[in-house]
Amino acid sequence: MCGIVGYIGPKEKKEILLDGLKELEYRGYDSAGIAIIEDKKLNHFKAVGKLENLANKTKDYHSSGFGVAIGHTRWATHGKPTELNAHPHLGKYSFVVHNGIIENYQSLKDKLQKNGVTFLSQTDTETIVHLFEYQCKQDQNAFESFKKTISELEGAYATLLITEVAPDTIFFAKNGSPMLIGFDGDDIYFASSDTPIIGKAKEVYYLEDGEYGYAKEGEVKLFDANGEKKFQKQSLSTDKASAQKDGYRFFMEKEIYEQSRVMSETMMGRINSNNIYFEELDSEFLNGIEAIKICACGTSYHSALASSYLFERLARIPCAVEIASEFRYKEPLLKQNTLFITISQSGETADTLEALKMAKRAGLKSLTVCNVDNSSIVRESDRAILTRAGIEKGVASTKAFATQTMVLWMLSVYMASLKGTISQDVLKGEIDAMIHTPKALIVNEGLHEKIHRLSKRYLHGHGFFFIGRDLFYPLALEGALKLKEISYLHAEGYPAGEMKHGPIALADSELFTIALMPRSLHYEKIKSNVEELSARDATILAISPMPFDLADDFIQTKYDSHPMLEFFEMMVITQILALEISIRLGNDVDMPRNLAKSVTVE
Ligand code: M6R
Repeated sequence: MCGIVGYIGPKEKKEILLDGLKELEYRGYDSAGIAIIEDKKLNHFKAVGKLENLANKTKDYHSSGFGVAIGHTRWATHGKPTELNAHPHLGKYSFVVHNGIIENYQSLKDKLQKNGVTFLSQTDTETIVHLFEYQCKQDQNAFESFKKTISELEGAYATLLITEVAPDTIFFAKNGSPMLIGFDGDDIYFASSDTPIIGKAKEVYYLEDGEYGYAKEGEVKLFDANGEKKFQKQSLSTDKASAQKDGYRFFMEKEIYEQSRVMSETMMGRINSNNIYFEELDSEFLNGIEAIKICACGTSYHSALASSYLFERLARIPCAVEIASEFRYKEPLLKQNTLFITISQSGETADTLEALKMAKRAGLKSLTVCNVDNSSIVRESDRAILTRAGIEKGVASTKAFATQTMVLWMLSVYMASLKGTISQDVLKGEIDAMIHTPKALIVNEGLHEKIHRLSKRYLHGHGFFFIGRDLFYPLALEGALKLKEISYLHAEGYPAGEMKHGPIALADSELFTIALMPRSLHYEKIKSNVEELSARDATILAISPMPFDLADDFIQTKYDSHPMLEFFEMMVITQILALEISIRLGNDVDMPRNLAKSVTVE
């Protein structure tokens, strides 16, 4: 996802920009660029791919003396990740960087093109710089032109503009996308989050929506709809790690809260009200596919397992899921016309990678659902669908699981509509539920507080059973994995209907059962399974939209119109429960003992 850095002052500007962009790298990007004006001359560099490519391109360039500089990492939305589409965008004598989406860019572009302006890129951003230069022709005043330019923009933006007509100035505006200004004496910095300027600036001002202005000669002039505005700087933390956590106690907590937002990124450009579309796939690739085999490990395996219910139910295609480390040594029988799917957050998991290589050797078509572009598994696969969760730092996977599950759900509906196994009404219903998913993932403060309070009753005992049926069985497995990873308490996920075939022997008041009881999928069945446990005095925490009197603790959910909405809402609850229990036990939530984020050995 895009990132912005800017600087005005006498220091070496290339290093400040590259260093700042490096701090934003974790957000994910596919191209980067910088533009610098010094001695009234404009220099700019862009490169597709990693920042190293940009660093290589600029290795013989060094800025000296006073100047203005802007830089950007781009995560493609309008137009492919190419050098032409990378920011900063050039007009004739000005450069702009921008985060967000200009919703009315097409009509602005049409107007400018009618006035003879030529566009080079496919981006919405380029409109800003041309609009500015168009205004400059009428106003002869750079700030007035900038002000008029932003008054015409609709949508979300954080933008910086530099121009040869005001070579000592950076113009800025913010609406809906984050941007801040850092201060250290006369040196002024800009960034889309504070990590690029920590260690450089001493004070900071976080811009509000609707604010704009310019920086010049060590001073910032700030305006909003009511005119010029005074502003209060605040001191800036010097601790990078805590700043990256945005005030959350742990990365895992931050990542749980991010799920609602990243889910929208996962769907962006892939879904509209009538259809699902994957530019990564074409109907030829899926032609003739008669079965699906999915291999993955850990949390990714749980997401795969959940999707197998959807592939069979919606797309009516046989789907088998295997743990990659088991698959590798079982001498598997691989049938042609089977699509081999791997799921991986990191794209580096050794067992999953090896399973993929085996499938390829057997001549199967391969597809991966992965969070890290250019990872080994992405490179090895015929096709890749990126989950776009952004970097996940907590060892216990959360947002990666959510986005994997979403991609697989979308894929199952996509294949169902290609195969004609669902009606238009069902298709619409699925899409409607997908669009509502970000809402079901919002963490409500009251809910978090409630889970925090009840977590104190779950710190002892002789173990946990997470139980569910159907789609909620893989979710139960995932809930149990989350808990054991970070609390070190014993937890098992179990199909609720299977409890009476053995595990119910463990039931007593010290056995904690987390019961996932959705309304929209087999409610009566799971209810009677939970009643059996309650009759044997197990301690029950029920999670359900339906009141359930036999529970010792009860968390009521809201979104019960579709099983997947229930799935995602319950997923958040199990994640927060694990988090709160782990915090109470004093564990390192982000780096649990014995675990690594990326398991590159078998
Ligand atoms: O990067 P991958 O998704 O391939 O990793 C697979 C597992 O190692 C991973 O999901 C692991 O189980 C997580 N720690 C779960 O939270």
